[in-house]
Amino acid sequence: MDEFIAGLPKCELHLHIEGTLEPELKFELARRNGIELPYRSAEEARAAYVFDSLTSFLVGYYASMDVLRTEPDFYDLATAYLVKAAAQNVRYAEIFFDPQAHTSRGVPFDLVIRGLRRAILDAERREGIRAQLIMCFLRDSEAGFAMATLLESLPYREWIAGVGLDSDERGNPPVKFERVFARAREEGYLLTMHCDVDQENTTEHIRQCLDVIGVDRIDHGVNALDDPALVDKARERGIGFTVCPVSNGFVTDGPKAEVVRRMLDLGLRVTINSDDPAYFEAYVAENLQLVRDELGLTRDELARLERNAFEIAWLPPAIRDGYLAELAEYTATAP
Ligand code: ADE
Ligand code: ZN
Repeated sequence: MDEFIAGLPKCELHLHIEGTLEPELKFELARRNGIELPYRSAEEARAAYVFDSLTSFLVGYYASMDVLRTEPDFYDLATAYLVKAAAQNVRYAEIFFDPQAHTSRGVPFDLVIRGLRRAILDAERREGIRAQLIMCFLRDSEAGFAMATLLESLPYREWIAGVGLDSDERGNPPVKFERVFARAREEGYLLTMHCDVDQENTTEHIRQCLDVIGVDRIDHGVNALDDPALVDKARERGIGFTVCPVSNGFVTDGPKAEVVRRMLDLGLRVTINSDDPAYFEAYVAENLQLVRDELGLTRDELARLERNAFEIAWLPPAIRDGYLAELAEYTATAP
């Protein structure tokens, strides 16, 4: 690992907490909950993570969540991520969670969010890392289920920074959730949505995010480059893009590092993130390392990626400014 990258103060904005479930923890949770797994070891489980598209990835991904049952399970999951992230000098993380993937299995919303919230508070005290939650709706479920989940979240409004949209994009455009996101905005949530890479109708989905939903940022969204009008609009509005190069390498035909170069050159607010690091075996530092190696990024460009992330993060100005100052100090003094 490049030493400059290792020490760089980092901001992670695209991270599914369920995607941080390492096979070792999966085994531990299965044992704790009396669940039989179809593998004999963590190595065997890891070897079984085989996928070549978003759809095939998501099948195994949701099946794995069955081991998450109790409040301590969610606490341990988030704690494991936050400890790893802090060790990579992630200073601030916005963490997606998929409540519907749990409530649909009979695991109560309250238990999920309490476990995650307790882990965030403890990690902040212990590791000095700050984090907030973003609640994602499953786009391949009905909009009515998303609306019910939004209403269920309202008593926990102070624990959730915003809402997102994930899971299988095929046939599930942003407009399907227009009313849900309008209501979320009324409730004070900030808005983001996945526009996964090279999906059917991808530029139309990005357009809907910008023109119909009015998102504050876009997760992935690199196909905006296919349409100059989308590039102009995103740049004018200062829309951030949470790009995940190693993830792209698994679910598309490559890591698409070159799009990061183009986005930087176009002045778009591109950021580098890990998505589902337990499945893609790369946390945020490894993602930065990959784009540095592929593109020969300079230190200034690496710092630019983190500055973009802190700038688009859903933080109060005084806290954001603190992180930006820390980043400036690091780039001025790093050996
Ligand atoms: N859930 C976890 N990772 C995802 C991704 N990259 N796209 C959509 N849904 C996801
Ligand atoms: Zn994602």
